[in-house]
Amino acid sequence: MAPVSTEAMLGRLLLAALLAASLVAAVDRNNFKTCEQSAFCRRHRDMPEGASKYTVRSNIETSDTGITFTILNTETNVELAASFEAFEGATGRLRIREKAPIRARYEVQDVVNPHLVHVSSTIGQQTEDGFVVNFGECAMAVTYQPFRIDFLRKEAVVISLNSRGLFNFEHYRERQEGDEEGMWEEDFKTHKDTKPYGPSSLAIDVSFPGVANVYGIPEHADDLSLKPTRGSGADRQPYRLYNLDVFEYELEESMALYGSRATGIDRQRPLLQIATRSIPYMVGHKAGQTSGFLFLNPSEMWVDVKKTETSAVNAFANRVKSMFTGSSNEEVPQTDSHWIAESGIMDFFVFLGPSPKEVFHQYATVTGFSPLPPLFSLAYHQCRWNYNDQEDVRFVTTQMDEHDIPFDVIWLDIEHTDGKRYMTWDQAKFPEPEAMQKFVASTGRRMVNIVDPHIKRAGGYHLHENAQKLDYYIKDRDNKAYDGWCWPGSSSWLDFLNPEIRSWWADMINPEHYKGTTLDMYFWNDMNEPSVFNGPEVTMHKDAKHFGGWEHRDVHNIYGMWQQASTAEGIKRRSGGSERPFVLSRAFFAGSQRYGAIWTGDNTAGWDHLAASLPMVMSIGVAGLPFAGADMGGFFGNPDAELLVRWYQAGAHQPFMRAHAHIDTKRREPYLLEEAERGFVRDAVRSRYQLLPYVYTEFYLAEQTGTPVMRTVCDHHASTGLDLDKPHFYPPIVPRPLWVDFPADDKVFAEQEEHLLGSSMLIAPVLEAGHTTKRVYFPANSVWYDMQTWERFAGGRQVTVMAPLDKIPVYQRAGSIIPKRMRVRRSSRLMAHDPFTLYIAVDPATQSASGQLYLDDTHTFSYTASKQFLLRNFELRGQGQTYTFSSRAAPESGSFETPAWVERLVIVGLENVATISEEGRNVEFSKKGATLVVKKPWVNSVADDFTLTITLA
Ligand code: NOJ
Repeated sequence: MAPVSTEAMLGRLLLAALLAASLVAAVDRNNFKTCEQSAFCRRHRDMPEGASKYTVRSNIETSDTGITFTILNTETNVELAASFEAFEGATGRLRIREKAPIRARYEVQDVVNPHLVHVSSTIGQQTEDGFVVNFGECAMAVTYQPFRIDFLRKEAVVISLNSRGLFNFEHYRERQEGDEEGMWEEDFKTHKDTKPYGPSSLAIDVSFPGVANVYGIPEHADDLSLKPTRGSGADRQPYRLYNLDVFEYELEESMALYGSRATGIDRQRPLLQIATRSIPYMVGHKAGQTSGFLFLNPSEMWVDVKKTETSAVNAFANRVKSMFTGSSNEEVPQTDSHWIAESGIMDFFVFLGPSPKEVFHQYATVTGFSPLPPLFSLAYHQCRWNYNDQEDVRFVTTQMDEHDIPFDVIWLDIEHTDGKRYMTWDQAKFPEPEAMQKFVASTGRRMVNIVDPHIKRAGGYHLHENAQKLDYYIKDRDNKAYDGWCWPGSSSWLDFLNPEIRSWWADMINPEHYKGTTLDMYFWNDMNEPSVFNGPEVTMHKDAKHFGGWEHRDVHNIYGMWQQASTAEGIKRRSGGSERPFVLSRAFFAGSQRYGAIWTGDNTAGWDHLAASLPMVMSIGVAGLPFAGADMGGFFGNPDAELLVRWYQAGAHQPFMRAHAHIDTKRREPYLLEEAERGFVRDAVRSRYQLLPYVYTEFYLAEQTGTPVMRTVCDHHASTGLDLDKPHFYPPIVPRPLWVDFPADDKVFAEQEEHLLGSSMLIAPVLEAGHTTKRVYFPANSVWYDMQTWERFAGGRQVTVMAPLDKIPVYQRAGSIIPKRMRVRRSSRLMAHDPFTLYIAVDPATQSASGQLYLDDTHTFSYTASKQFLLRNFELRGQGQTYTFSSRAAPESGSFETPAWVERLVIVGLENVATISEEGRNVEFSKKGATLVVKKPWVNSVADDFTLTITLA
């Protein structure tokens, strides 16, 4: 045996201790800071309301792109430069920087869409109290003293900045007598942050007048509608946005709660509001007005939320409003938030809607739309830490087939590597990786390998030796390659902030460098917060140094996104640009939606974690990232059969559907279940496969509406003729809260036990142990059909439905048409030529239904490069006793050769049908329960148009 160095030995001991800790103990909250333990957070949070000492100088200047003005700190006389730009889509960007900084501040690169279209912003009123900038039907009102900024739409205040007087911009300075503790260095546990540049933090209060519900700032294991952290008896830690490797909430807590309480998240226990990844974006919603606020800054952030019934602040807001209308007496509830960031600049975007769907578009227009993923990635993923060896991979694959449970991807976690050297193989366990992938591919499937950002500092390891030679590692405060502990022991971290390193990494993905991989191998970037086992709060020291001389403090929350981005680029490159990438990442930031999927991290096999997965995935969706899911079954612990079944039923209706489990859990591949439960899981997985055409179409539509022609009511809406109510106007959010589609029904504003999947399905999974019923609220002014029994439910009421273990309460909206593939095979690849069944749910009020189907080769860019795709429009329209159903190419459809055809229509909601005919020929149909089934075997391809006439008796 080779001698083991002391360093390696220590590393092993440390890892063993960490692993043991992760298994037996809950997260030790003492390992993570509270706001009071973080000097910059404490300084700002302690500030009393109204303490802000700023005013505006009336030196307003206008240019082609916007307006600039100066903000003055009346105590220090330090000047800040403010610049405002307005963009198409009721979007404003306000940046505030130091005018003459003694050191440059980090500004986010490559997140904001460079093609945003400016709209003219003109100075309207200007008085000695302030001035108003108009853009479309929106405006920004700046008040000098006390300094505040209000964003208005149609003369109503939508978002106010500094209305509570908490604005504060700590300028870079030299050390001074009397500087507070924690400004120039700070200790936490055994770690020192040297803070060589001193205090640099920023704070702003942001209010949403009239709004009782705000959402977003993921990721928190918390309610969808954010709970207050201050005011009205609330006394919690602020929400913290700092990418950390921390369990969502404790194992014991969830185990103790197992089956013993109502669904939802435990409200009694104050959690540390730590985000394990961060999108600094909040959405406020009330009937008639939705808005969004993005603080584009990747340094550590804390956000307080406070709610008031009515507020004096509104009186002030109304004074601003009176600049326009003279009226000023509205008193409404309000949500206030207080944002505290450690460094960087104030780069704010406001999105003024007014509808939820417009806000989603506006946000995505700035930070990017989620590209259409390859179809296989929307199917079921089978993962575990770890599939032991290549025989195990083969065994699991064949067992799934033997038990008739479809899946598309089998995953390998860190144990497949040679001693945690990523992009290598453990030769003993995986001697023939290519043959293994070939076998998996022969069953119509792909594989995913984990590739973390920490590189083992080991001689002879190609990634380490190259990275060292090329000087590609992040540096520590002494300018040496940062050296910390992660899975491999002593490791260094690639500096993904550097575009050159991103490009190098993308090349490393190529099978030429990543030996043993084939083009059927995709990737998973984990631990990219980055997780550093022996670092402060299990992450990197803030005084570590990145490309461009930036401190880790400045860029922490964006680091992981750049690893995912370059991995995705590598997948494209290795195919010469033809294949769509798939990469799963644990860390994320604003813009991550452009690079792949994310999951909610290390959850637990408990009912409360299952319940939490809904608001978590929805919050991530609200923040513009639709491709998200939770580890089905729970990562830690062993779910019993009932929990596993219910989790598959919920997971089958979330965009990213993956089963995953910790290395020390019992094997739980679904074929291991007893026959009855195995059948229920099989049914849940099969229902996902049947729905793939619908889910894929939703993702396509979400991507397409991101085109720059998208405009909204605040600018050229009329000129584009875009009808916001038409189904082609899709928000880029697939698992969405009910309020997105039912923005006027206040009963759904805080709903988190059900969600929509696209616009046509309502998902209400059972989230409680032992329950065989489920309370389902159907939103007002809509009608729904149970997708199994076709029972009809009118909206605006709550109904208790039967939900035994084999039942998934899912509903189709009346007025929609959902395309499905009913012949489920082993994997989505094998279903590519199979026929479609259209489920037509007639809206009784309008006597109509419509829907779409998108179809392409499922994995390449030929749909954009050469328009090889089909987009079919399905419409049912009724007049009196006659209905017409048509299948037509959408005007934007390309062409795509496919043998797939429409084999069946299932119509629900039409009584007393006498005849159905096509071009004068009678078509056979039969009644099956509440549905009418029409078989259409003579249509050659789904690409062929056809029309049916339906006559009622
Ligand atoms: C932490 C990840 O969250 C988990 O999913 C993974 O299995 C382990 N790292 C091991 O790679």
